[in-house]
Amino acid sequence: MHEIVRREEMASGDVILNEIEAPLIAKKAKPGQFVILKADERGERIPLTMADADPERGTITVIYKVVGKSTELFKSLEEGDSYQDAVGPLGQPTHLEKVGTVACVGGGTGVAVLYPITRGLKGAGNRIISIIGARTADRIILEEEMRAVSDELFVCTDDGSRGHHGFVTEILKRVLEVETLNLAVAVGPVLMMKLVSDMTRPYDVKTIVSLNPIMIDGTGMCGGCRVLVDGENKFACVDGPEFDGHKVDFDQLMQRLDAYQSEERESSKAHRCRLDE
Ligand code: NAD
Ligand code: FES
Repeated sequence: MHEIVRREEMASGDVILNEIEAPLIAKKAKPGQFVILKADERGERIPLTMADADPERGTITVIYKVVGKSTELFKSLEEGDSYQDAVGPLGQPTHLEKVGTVACVGGGTGVAVLYPITRGLKGAGNRIISIIGARTADRIILEEEMRAVSDELFVCTDDGSRGHHGFVTEILKRVLEVETLNLAVAVGPVLMMKLVSDMTRPYDVKTIVSLNPIMIDGTGMCGGCRVLVDGENKFACVDGPEFDGHKVDFDQLMQRLDAYQSEERESSKAHRCRLDE
């Protein structure tokens, strides 16, 4: 069992932070890696990239958006409650090296994944230009944390309630025009990562994206998480979750992510509220 020692609600309650006791995972976790959590015996296995790990406290931190039945169940867990299973750390860690100037672009809850990567890249000696965005001001997460590990930070909102009025890609376009970037990292909605990759390609700026396809076992056995990269099937759970954005087939990824939408809707309808019990 893995007790929740800290629980915070962000983005008007749509996004939840859980700091969870998992000493063995915390000892080994590196930026970019993920865990698979299961709330109870019959629960779905949900992969979440870690936003932080503290080997001294023996905890890991995950930040997730409530999007369906299983994340609703996760949301119902309070401080002191426990996840039945936490498996990890899984996946390949981010390759951290000094390359020069790096643009770190995060959309919505993707910023939770971007933060430890940005911190690692800053720690490796890079100059960091971060661009984070959300639909509205109250949906921006980890702004101060991102500011602390960035040389420059741009904030965007779709409705203009904070920072630049528009998408993160609009600021990236301006940055690409005036800066010589050596690397870009993008984490967020798939369409955002596709557009960031399309924008950096003509500038020949290597671009890393963190993918979150459907996962089941997380160990390379089931094939559920396969993504087409440079014409080859790769498993996001063991080969990723980070890939070269210029080589990812984003259209196929979007199709695969949409494949189970109707089942997810049915499953959410069948969900019985625990308050009724
Ligand atoms: P969202 O849809 O509210 O978008 C957040 C921001 O991304 C927007 O404010 C905008 O700046 C940018 N964006 C969105 N669509 C865009 C477009 N078409 N063009 C340019 N920029 C665009 O985000 P959300 O609801 O918080 O969802 C977060 C997404 O991030 C989910 O799709 C989730 O699957 C993904 N995510 C990925 C990982 C990962 O490990 N790869 C982790 C967490 C979340
Ligand atoms: Fe099964 Fe990756 S989740 S192969």
